[in-house]
Formats: sequence, C-alpha cells, structure tokens
Amino acid sequence: MLFNYSSIAIIILSQIIQTLTLLEDAKLFFTDLSSKYGHPAEKYDVTTEDGYILTLYRLPGKSKLPVLLMHGLFSTADSWILRGNTSLPITLANSGYDVWIGNCRGNTYSRKHIHISPNSRKFWNFTFHELAIYDLRAVIDKVLKETGAKKLNAIGHSLGNTIFYVLGSTVPEYNEKLNLLIALSPICYLHNVPSPVKNILDLAPFFKELRKQNYVDKVFGPGLIKQLLEKICANPVYGYIICVETLLFPLTGFNREELGPDFLPILISHFPSSSSLKNLLHLAQVYNRRKFAKYDYGFSKNFLLYNSTKPPLYDLGKVKMRIALISAKNDRLSTLKDVEILRGRLTNIVSDLVMPLDKFNHVDYIWGERTNLYLHPYILSELKMYS
Ligand SMILES: *[C@@H]1O[C@H](CO)[C@@H](O)[C@H](O)[C@H]1NC(C)=O
Ligand SMILES: *[C@@H]1O[C@H](CO)[C@@H](O)[C@H](O)[C@H]1NC(C)=O
Ligand SMILES: *[C@@H]1O[C@H](CO)[C@@H](O)[C@H](O)[C@H]1NC(C)=O
Repeated sequence: MLFNYSSIAIIILSQIIQTLTLLEDAKLFFTDLSSKYGHPAEKYDVTTEDGYILTLYRLPGKSKLPVLLMHGLFSTADSWILRGNTSLPITLANSGYDVWIGNCRGNTYSRKHIHISPNSRKFWNFTFHELAIYDLRAVIDKVLKETGAKKLNAIGHSLGNTIFYVLGSTVPEYNEKLNLLIALSPICYLHNVPSPVKNILDLAPFFKELRKQNYVDKVFGPGLIKQLLEKICANPVYGYIICVETLLFPLTGFNREELGPDFLPILISHFPSSSSLKNLLHLAQVYNRRKFAKYDYGFSKNFLLYNSTKPPLYDLGKVKMRIALISAKNDRLSTLKDVEILRGRLTNIVSDLVMPLDKFNHVDYIWGERTNLYLHPYILSELKMYS
C-alpha cells in the first residue's frame, strides 16, 4: 500500500515538474533553451547575396559531417527545440553531432536586411523560391566554410524540404554539397490536400487582391492578429479547444496524444512566426495549377521574367542529392498521395518510411511528445548509415 502511495506521489510530482518546465520554456528562446538542455548555442549571422541577414545557430559537436536543420512555413529554429531534452537538436547533439539550425528570411530571427527595412513592401517580396536560392544556399555555404566539411547532412520539415528540391533543381551544383537530406513531411505537390487546407488555398485570389491593394504583405507579423491569437490560446479553459483542436489540427491532422494542452503555452509563445503573403500565394499556385513551378506573375510579366508566358517548372530530375523520405498517414498537408507523386519524380530516394502510427500528423515530427521514441532512433540510424 505504502509503495503504491509513494509511486503515485512520484508520478504526480514528476507531472508537476514537467508542467513547470514547460511554463518556464514558454519564456525562453533558442539560445536559452539550448543552454538549459546542455548545449549552449553559437550564433552566426549569414548575409545572403540579395542582402538579407539570417540568424544561424550551432550546437557544436564532433561529427565530421555537420547536420543542418531547416524549419517549415511560419516557423523558426525554436520549433525544433520546444520539446527540450527530447527534441531533435538536443538528441543529435547528445549523440555527438555538429548541429546547425537555420532561420529563413522573414521569421523573428531573420527580419533584417543590409538596407531594406522590414517595414517596406520590398522586404516581403519573396516566396520559397528565394528561401531556396538565396537563404538555403547562403546557409549551406556558411556551414561548409565554418566546418571545413565538403558536404553536410540536412533534415528539413515541411517547406523546409521544398527549398532543397528548388535549390537542387535550380542550382544543380548544390546537390554535390549534400550527403543526405532527411525529408520529414515532404511537401512538393499539393494536388490532394483535403479541406479545410484546400478551402484556404482556394481563397488565394482574395489574398492576392489584398496584396495588390497594399493592405497585406506579411502573415503573422507582430500586430493585432498575433496578439489576439496569443490571448485566446493562453486561456486555460478554451485555449486548447480553439487554437489546437479548431485551428491547428484541421490543417495538420488530429492527434491529441502527441500534443496535449500542457504544450500549448510553450507552442504559442514560439509559433506562428512571420513569413510573406507571397510565399503562401506561391503555394496556392502549386495547388491550383497542379504544377511545381516558379511563381506565376501572369502572362506578360512571366514573359519578361522567364521568356515564357507560363512559369517554368522546377525539374525534379535535376535533384540528385540522396533523400530519405519520411511521411505519415494522418498528415493533411503532405498527404500520402502527394508524396507518391513526389516519389515518382525524385531520382535518388535511398530510403522511404511511412510512420507506422496511424495518427502521426504534420507537426508531430517536431512537436510530438514521444517523437524521441518513434522517430529519432530512425533518424540517427539513417545518419549513421550514410556517414
Ligand atoms: C536533460 O538531460 C540531462 C542529461 O540527461 C539532465 O542532466 C538534465 O537534468 C535534463 N534537463 C531537464 C530540464 O530535464
Ligand atoms: C517583387 O519582385 C518582382 C520579381 O523580381 C518584381 O518584378 C517586383 O517589382 C517586385 N515588387 C516589389 C514591391 O519590390
Ligand atoms: C526565349 O525563348 C525562345 C523560344 O522558347 C528561344 O528561342 C529564345 O532563345 C529565348 N530567349 C532567351 C533570351 O532566352
């Protein structure tokens, strides 16, 4: 009996400690979090060819091949580390990897430019095309320069994969700089997204008009909507129902088991971060035109920019880097059907895993409570196999 009481007490106590840790982490950002979990981060500034200044983090380690993590849409480097001790960067660093974590233009850590103000329209004139050919390229070069390595391993989540396909097809010599890309929730084609993802993408003409009229350039920048969202989501009674069950899960897939109410305070203080509206419009074009192609500016401007009235396709045949695909049945943004199309076009897939858990969704790769059990061992074995 006594034994039972004390074990219950220990469980309750550890629950309380866990909750307090999550509440504390809600106020911490990348370098504080990485230090707290045993790996003080180094911070680098990377200036792209077109003048954007990006923040790049490093958790130094002994591995010869560095590992670069690239976040998805509306995310930052923080998204990778929100699960603290059981997060991917900490797991990799604990295993001796030299871990680098990028931030794309427009997010909280990379809202800087050598002469363009983030308040100007010009700053937000980019899509995932620019994230690939400027940001990703500059980040890869910086990692290789600092480490002296010839190649690196990369792990991308969501749009953090798309940029590798764009770079590999547009600037083919970058294929040589990648030893292996591990693609978590690979997004490329969007033919089969279910509603309400579909319905949001169908609103593209409306958003395009807003952009044209100069009303909106960025999404989730600091401002009223973001503040309102934070207020609502912080509510202990209805925050989880509104923000996670009503807003997030319909887009990413329902899975309460991996993302419970206790995680919401830390999530909402780090996500979503800003990106351009044009980025979203470009994704909507991929969905609407059913083509993985450059941005469609319309007939005459296309002709000026591309020497063709239609935007040129990204040629996935030119993406020669080794790729490990990891997809999931309950991922509503990267559906199995769309991954199937991608699988048919990529030429160097070295492994291909569909997560064995039925409920595993789009965000469980980075935020799932037990991703360290389900996913990280696989990632570690892939890295080992190709190193
Ligand atoms: C994280 O793990 C390390 C090593 O296992 C441990 O020393 C530390 O206390 C843990 N930190 C937290 C906050 O759980
Ligand atoms: C955005 O970029 C496009 C393509 O390079 C260019 O034609 C357009 O004028 C730019 N718009 C702004 C507001 O900078
Ligand atoms: C434009 O495209 C046409 C036909 O598609 C081609 O003949 C021409 O060389 C191209 N011009 C340039 C400048 O690339």
